[in-house]
Amino acid sequence: MGEPKKLYIKTYGCQMNVYDSERMVEALGGNGYVEVATPDEADMILLNTCHIREKAAEKVYSELGRFRDLKVAKPDLKIGVAGCVAQAEGAEIIARQPMVDLVVGPQSYHRLPEMEARAGSEKVIDTEFPEEDKFERLKARPKAKRGPSAFLTVQEGCDKFCAFCVVPYTRGAEVSRPAARVLEEARDLVERGVREITLLGQNVNAYHGAGAEGDWGLAQLIWALNDIDGLERIRFTTSHPNDMGDDLIAAHGDCAKLMPYLHLPVQSGSDRILKRMNRSHTAESYLRLIERIRAARPDILISGDFIVGFPEETEVDFQATLDLVESVGYGQAYSFKYSPRPGTPAAERPQVDPAEAAERLHRLQALITAQQRAAQDAMVGREVGVLFERAGRMPGQMTGKSDHLHAVHVQAPPEVLGQLHRVRITASGPNSLAGALI
Ligand code: SAH
Ligand code: SF4
Ligand code: F3S
Repeated sequence: MGEPKKLYIKTYGCQMNVYDSERMVEALGGNGYVEVATPDEADMILLNTCHIREKAAEKVYSELGRFRDLKVAKPDLKIGVAGCVAQAEGAEIIARQPMVDLVVGPQSYHRLPEMEARAGSEKVIDTEFPEEDKFERLKARPKAKRGPSAFLTVQEGCDKFCAFCVVPYTRGAEVSRPAARVLEEARDLVERGVREITLLGQNVNAYHGAGAEGDWGLAQLIWALNDIDGLERIRFTTSHPNDMGDDLIAAHGDCAKLMPYLHLPVQSGSDRILKRMNRSHTAESYLRLIERIRAARPDILISGDFIVGFPEETEVDFQATLDLVESVGYGQAYSFKYSPRPGTPAAERPQVDPAEAAERLHRLQALITAQQRAAQDAMVGREVGVLFERAGRMPGQMTGKSDHLHAVHVQAPPEVLGQLHRVRITASGPNSLAGALI
């Protein structure tokens, strides 16, 4: 066998892209590639891209520009673009950046090895939505050891068509994987050292995969995962408020391994704007939902997403968003300035003045930051579980994630790596907690 070829892969966007990149590295392993950490020595460069906001999409072209010298120095270097920009722009990418050899959309990753073999001598593009089951043909190769926390995609795509969002176009219609496949992959991960699994889907709580008797919902899947020995924590993301069923809410109270953290994007607190966004929930229905979730699990940490400056948003609408944030009390939240995306309905509407939108974003972020800090400070004195994921920056320090997904630094021996321990939280800093092993 010859020298292994070197693959540099860079991942943008959401956790699903992180999961997909792992699958692509494994698939290209079959073509003789090993992953490397920098592009300089690579035989192939693959960008796994995100199209959600204009800034994310434009990054891809500036990144590609940076590889020009490498390609000149090494004409055999293969450059590929995967992910949601690949899906949205297809052949346009090669028209705009001719040194790109390969463009592959998210539904075609199982075809990547065959595409890679052809790339270089010809331009290779695949942005179809083929019938066959991508996940079945992208099975992880046995049995490399892994870190303690892993993603597992159970659902992909979206049928909701929020007026601002590209995901239904880039990821396609909602599809769920069969429960047996998910459980098999989970058991394999646990055998390889994984202690925490985060189930992924663009609308993960809309999961409806084939189960033992008829379709299973996400709650049933979580209960089945709860029975896997050696798996200690279960999380899921991202949820839609309209798919938060009673059984899933109840699981947050009853299922021991399901962690007290829920990412539940609302986008706006104004019913008028929510309607224009095609969200099909109201501020009031969202607040009532949060109440029911907190009744099931009082210490749950709620996280969310917000868009400010959506077309036609007025100061009154924005004030309603601030009011909703005040009522919920987020432990964590992400907020974005609205970015018009080609092909989505809202892109055609009258836009909010960018300076006005920026100023609103600033105000919202100040409120969210204060809430995040308060939620973190409230952990001081409490006992939590921490799953240790890496050595800390200080000597003798180890770092992990709490049940509530806070980063926690603890003085502890290196052996705790990959283990879950009880920790008493002793201090709260700007972005993390400090604690002591109990
Ligand atoms: N499926 C999830 C979120 C997917 S995208 C949901 O239903 O909420 C992640 C986040 O990006 C969204 O929650 C939204 O807040 C933000 N986003 C999506 N499209 C955007 C756009 N055009 N401009 C600004 N933010 C956007
Ligand atoms: Fe996008 Fe989420 Fe809306 Fe689907 S539900 S269109 S992924 S924001
Ligand atoms: Fe971005 Fe595609 Fe994820 S647009 S957020 S990488 S689904």
